[in-house]
Amino acid sequence: MVAETRLAPEDFVYPMFVVEGENVRHEVKSMPSVHQLSLDRLVDEAGAVHAAGVPSVILFGIPNTKDATGTTGYDPEGIVPRAIARLKKELPGLNVWADVCLCEYTDHGHCGLLTAEGEVDNDTSLPLLARAARVYAEAGADAVAPSDMMDGRVRAIRNELDGAGLDQIPVISYAAKYASAFYGPFRDAADSAPTFGDRRAYQMDPPNVREALAEVTLDIEEGADMVMVKPAGPYLDIIRAVRETVSVPVAAYQVSGEFSMIHAAAQNGWIDLRRTALESLVGIRRAGADLILTYFAKDAADWLREG
Ligand code: PBG
Repeated sequence: MVAETRLAPEDFVYPMFVVEGENVRHEVKSMPSVHQLSLDRLVDEAGAVHAAGVPSVILFGIPNTKDATGTTGYDPEGIVPRAIARLKKELPGLNVWADVCLCEYTDHGHCGLLTAEGEVDNDTSLPLLARAARVYAEAGADAVAPSDMMDGRVRAIRNELDGAGLDQIPVISYAAKYASAFYGPFRDAADSAPTFGDRRAYQMDPPNVREALAEVTLDIEEGADMVMVKPAGPYLDIIRAVRETVSVPVAAYQVSGEFSMIHAAAQNGWIDLRRTALESLVGIRRAGADLILTYFAKDAADWLREG
């Protein structure tokens, strides 16, 4: 009765990895309970997540082919547009968000195009990211969430969507996304590790708070409808500072490393999985997050219902 913070299934967004093929349910070794799923299996799993009370999923695509410009990322026949259409057809009440980034689709694994010198080319990447966002929205996505961290991509995406008559589709910006070691397991799941270098030229520097607030403010000026902080647990102060600075909803992404560490320690018998997971999630809510993207979404929803 006197709890100051509540945690409920409707606070969660479940990230899902979709692959080509039929009847594929391939476990991600570094992320217990998380699978790469083909379209048919995706529908089953998303249906179970939705039935558990989780209103939204966010999709990441793993294409069969990759190239220097990430063509399969903005192909209307690509894996993510097909997954969106299928989910919206079979589970119309489920909110489907599409992550927008090139790293799963480029052969070099960076989040944008490269210059001849092998540097990430911010400005030439923008039209392709905007195109990907439009293709996903046209396929039926309820929201698009750019995670690439190129400067100016929120405006580019907003303009492209508005120009295509998709002005009602919200842009959820990964506004404060840090260059984090906690993304390790995700890069296995999404097969998106850069083949050279790292992402420090476009993702944020962990010691900085004011820079996060500047990024968030810029993204809102460019038209972001919701902003995200990522990772979540090691950045609770950033979540709090962003919550106190902006008026749009704030989401936080409990990333793969945060999730897998809790599982690994629990597998060793060092901590209790359920209690630790729920405590990590309530801490993120207490810090000020309105929504949490988490791989615990379904389990946590079940645990909360069991009481
Ligand atoms: C990039 C992207 C990443 C994550 C979400 N979108 C990885 C990265 O920036 O390398 C990480 C999510 C996680 O670790 O769970 N498209």
